[in-house]
Amino acid sequence: MALGYLSGTWLGALTVCRLAGVRDPRLAGSCNPGFSNVLRLYGTRLALATLVVDAAKGMPVLWLAMAMGMPPWAQGLVGLGVLLGHSYPAWHRFRGGKAVASAFGVMLVLTPWVALVCATLWSLLAWRVRTAAIATLASAALAPLASIWLAPDYVGVVIAFTLLVLARHVLNIRRLGRGNEPGL
Ligand code: G3P
Repeated sequence: MALGYLSGTWLGALTVCRLAGVRDPRLAGSCNPGFSNVLRLYGTRLALATLVVDAAKGMPVLWLAMAMGMPPWAQGLVGLGVLLGHSYPAWHRFRGGKAVASAFGVMLVLTPWVALVCATLWSLLAWRVRTAAIATLASAALAPLASIWLAPDYVGVVIAFTLLVLARHVLNIRRLGRGNEPGL
């Protein structure tokens, strides 16, 4: 879990924006260092690069956990470490992202079919309603239900991921309620 946390603290959005020579995404848009805000501010190319880094960063540690024969709940703790590292990175004063891309990457390893179902719903909703948070909230709600059918050993793990992602979206939920959530 500690190794997962350490790998999670690498915020893809900051590295990608620094390499591209553009402004820190924490200073504009939703101020979230994540895929959606980079998409909003700088377009598809940098957003996809952010997604790749954030989704891939936890994979080596998860593969290690699986290769060691850890049971699903222990693999889930490693994955939770990745999400906590992304959300509360010690090197960035514990102010990180919303753990959506990192949860996608963790689930691609642990529960690949659930990850693909959720990613499909996220893409369709983001395309239709142009609001990342709505796509995320719906996908996070779907994940535990999908895991009952597609990854029954990981239902508890996926519920934990969903709860963390929902907790990271409290401000988005408030803005949606007030009708001033920024679009994509
Ligand atoms: O990917 C995170 C998304 O659900 C919300 O991001 O930037 O719209 O707050 P943002």
